[in-house]
Amino acid sequence: MKSEEIRSKFLEFFQKRGHVIVPSSSVVPDKNDLSVLFTTAGMQQFKPFYLREKSPYGSNVASSQKCVRTSDIEEVGDERHLTFFEMLGNFSFGGYWKKEAISYAHEFITKEMGLSIDYVTIFEGDSEVFEDKESVNIWKAIDPNLTIKKFGREDNFWGPTGESGPCGPTTEIYVNGIEIWNIVFNEYFKNVEGKFEKLKQTGIDTGMGLERLTMALQKKETVFETDLFKSTMQVANSSIIADHIRTSVFMIADGVLPSNTDRGYVLRRLLRRAYIHARKLKIETETLNAVIGKVVEHPSYKGLYAFAENTKEIVMNEIEKFKKTLETGLKQVKADRDPFTLFTSFGLPLEIIKEVVPNVDEDKFKKQMEEHRKLSSSSL
Ligand code: SER
Repeated sequence: MKSEEIRSKFLEFFQKRGHVIVPSSSVVPDKNDLSVLFTTAGMQQFKPFYLREKSPYGSNVASSQKCVRTSDIEEVGDERHLTFFEMLGNFSFGGYWKKEAISYAHEFITKEMGLSIDYVTIFEGDSEVFEDKESVNIWKAIDPNLTIKKFGREDNFWGPTGESGPCGPTTEIYVNGIEIWNIVFNEYFKNVEGKFEKLKQTGIDTGMGLERLTMALQKKETVFETDLFKSTMQVANSSIIADHIRTSVFMIADGVLPSNTDRGYVLRRLLRRAYIHARKLKIETETLNAVIGKVVEHPSYKGLYAFAENTKEIVMNEIEKFKKTLETGLKQVKADRDPFTLFTSFGLPLEIIKEVVPNVDEDKFKKQMEEHRKLSSSSL
């Protein structure tokens, strides 16, 4: 089953069960939401409806949300972590509750997708929040043979996204050894003092990565072997390049431009990393251009997401500028200057310097970094 079909099946499944399908919001969050730099979950555009505001879509919605998570940027390339992904989710604001949410998820995974569940997890409880026995009973009633594992706050409790807000226990579904679906039961409000109060209106917030689900259905070892990456991997043959260029294209589509601050800096880092890897693998810059083309023309995104007409121009300008900076910096290092100048004069982080100056003394560099930080903070 192709990824576009999986996405449609998910949305149709929930539409048939009384959910309004809401288009993905931008990867740039609403200006009133300062909790994150990028949209990291499907629930983000619906946050106000869990608390005060009335949802204009009614109480039950579903979406496939464009998400960016760059906290694990260094881990991309290990075939599991993506900086951009689509999150399939169904949500309820004061509508249905645990029984329906779990039954829908079970039915979708086992019947609609034909996958078998390895095991599910639930919240084991702690001094502040009770064990989620209700979910255990619901799962047992659906399938008495299912393995149910219990975990603590680290694994089976979600939120709040900021200091305070709605949060609650989760139940998670594992397929082929990976977590595939996270179902959050928003039943508490964590206040600024860190205390948990019962929410007046409970809420459902679920998230399932389209890429992971596609990987399970297409029986692949990594997300980069699925149809979502087939064409980009054929051109670039590098998961880092395929991932970073795809994320950059989606960021630019939502108006992000390379810069030295905030979102623009994240985009800049992604493009620089993509270029550095291309350089290492002796891949021409032209190939990066071709990867952009493959993302923009991808059948899974056709008619669903709009891209910026000048995407290639923005990326190529940025890469050309970076190329020049890098070559000038490298010439200086060759002329026996300390690789640390690549940081002080050219703003290159260690992660990039390591790629271009393979014998860089990392410990020395880190010490220099420390000194540099001390000096710059004491001069403030
Ligand atoms: N908000 C939860 C998550 O990000 C479920 O969608 O995993």
